[in-house]
Amino acid sequence: MKGVVLAGGLGSRLRPLTSVTNKHLLPVYDRPMIYYPIQTLVNADITDIMIVTGGNSAGDFLKLLGNGKAFGLKHLNYTYQEGEGGIAEALSLVEHFAAGEPVCVVLGDNIIEGNITGAVRAYRSLGGGAKIILKKVPDPHRFGVPELDGPRVVRIEEKPGSPKSEFAVIGIYMYDNNVYDIIRTLEPSGRGELEITDVNNAYIDRDEMSWEELNGWWTDAGTFESLLHASNLVAETGANKVEPSLAAEVSGNA
Ligand code: G1P
Repeated sequence: MKGVVLAGGLGSRLRPLTSVTNKHLLPVYDRPMIYYPIQTLVNADITDIMIVTGGNSAGDFLKLLGNGKAFGLKHLNYTYQEGEGGIAEALSLVEHFAAGEPVCVVLGDNIIEGNITGAVRAYRSLGGGAKIILKKVPDPHRFGVPELDGPRVVRIEEKPGSPKSEFAVIGIYMYDNNVYDIIRTLEPSGRGELEITDVNNAYIDRDEMSWEELNGWWTDAGTFESLLHASNLVAETGANKVEPSLAAEVSGNA
């Protein structure tokens, strides 16, 4: 399984912080934001990783990360997303790198207290399809929200006015090699982007979607409030812990 960190976009919700630099290079407590999603993959034993960057300061990722020595890696791969075509478009750029293998995709502004080893192991045992990770949040309308029927995901709605559950679909996804064909069928959404929620709904339509619930806290860091919250959480408790009790657990399956 290969790893992908999506670190493109213009970070428009964080201007002027992102007027001259990339959102994922901003500090979250004592490290640049992108350190956390890379560590999430490495802690799950996913060490063949591609960074998809874009927008401002793309060259600074190479300066900062090099070949990934800070994470015990021997090599890192990079590619560049032009413009702001959305998460699914960014993911389409890794087809060549994935070379037929499944991928674990982490959004560059998603930070977790624990680890995803349990979820990755469960996905590997399924032998294909897709897996999402869910977390109960007080403000699901800010995220992709699943409608659940026991172990089944019925549908995911992107930033719904009336959320059908208390869960957010967090920005950590696992896909088999069919994901690129699915992305090729997508049309841009109202915000002009290829949406990852449309990719996930395509897997639901194929009856090939499963889910896990994350233990420990999760946050994104793409707004002023969530960026501050992320720094406070990391300062108070630390992130990317490897304890088994903080692994994403098998709690749902399709
Ligand atoms: C994106 C996804 C959303 C997901 C969120 C997690 O939202 O579209 O489904 O819940 O990431 O961070 P965005 O940050 O692009 O608004």
